[in-house]
Amino acid sequence: NDSAEPADGGNDASANYGLVTEGTLSVCSDIPYPPFEMEGGDNGTGYTGFDIEILSAVAEKLDLELAVQDVGFDALQSGTTLAAGTCDIGASAMTITEERKANIDFSDPYYDSLQSLLVSTESGIESIDDLDGKNVGVQQGTTGENYAKENAKGATLVQYPSDGELWPAIQAGQIDAILQDQPVNLEHEKADDTYKIVETYDTDESYGFAFQKGEKTELLEAVNGALKELRDSGEYQEIYDEFFTA
Ligand code: ARG
Repeated sequence: NDSAEPADGGNDASANYGLVTEGTLSVCSDIPYPPFEMEGGDNGTGYTGFDIEILSAVAEKLDLELAVQDVGFDALQSGTTLAAGTCDIGASAMTITEERKANIDFSDPYYDSLQSLLVSTESGIESIDDLDGKNVGVQQGTTGENYAKENAKGATLVQYPSDGELWPAIQAGQIDAILQDQPVNLEHEKADDTYKIVETYDTDESYGFAFQKGEKTELLEAVNGALKELRDSGEYQEIYDEFFTA
């Protein structure tokens, strides 16, 4: 591609995105969080999922290689990991919140989500009001944790660093429920029919890609431009269908 397009998502050879590694879009993510980020795929990073494949397409538009690192979510969502210059962009099904905006610049929203409650079909739990005296698993630093704190009256919250620990914990009976983003609980429900989502909560959440506050404006604009191109071309929809249509 040799055309000199503007920096609004086109391939701009003169663009200076302030990348951690020249020629590479370095992505930090908390894995696993299916279907948004998980091991596998064939984009060369060793990882796939909706977030990763969207950014793989974005990287292609910007003429950059994609590299993915698995980091902890809590420090990613607080802005610490990005401020340390560990990567150019955080892609972790991260909800755009006012609180996070104090430390992070977000891309345009790329996915809308809900919260949900997953329980064992044997548990007898039918709603959040049945959690009194129960152990509810959440991922540390997430919007699900906040929702549980505010709404699961009488429950004991058990915080895990990752969904990679949450899911085994409910299977081992250490927790009675998982409160987290609906698409991720849905993956667990699909994987094991002894678990089900009993409630979803419309928390009006949208995910954004995360950038070090104030330092990555040019890259952020280029990513937004590329996202818009992907939506216009139908490529966004193709990737969406791959991960969200059974
Ligand atoms: N959307 C929720 C939040 O922003 C959960 C995100 C967790 N993501 C992850 N990759 N573990 O708080």
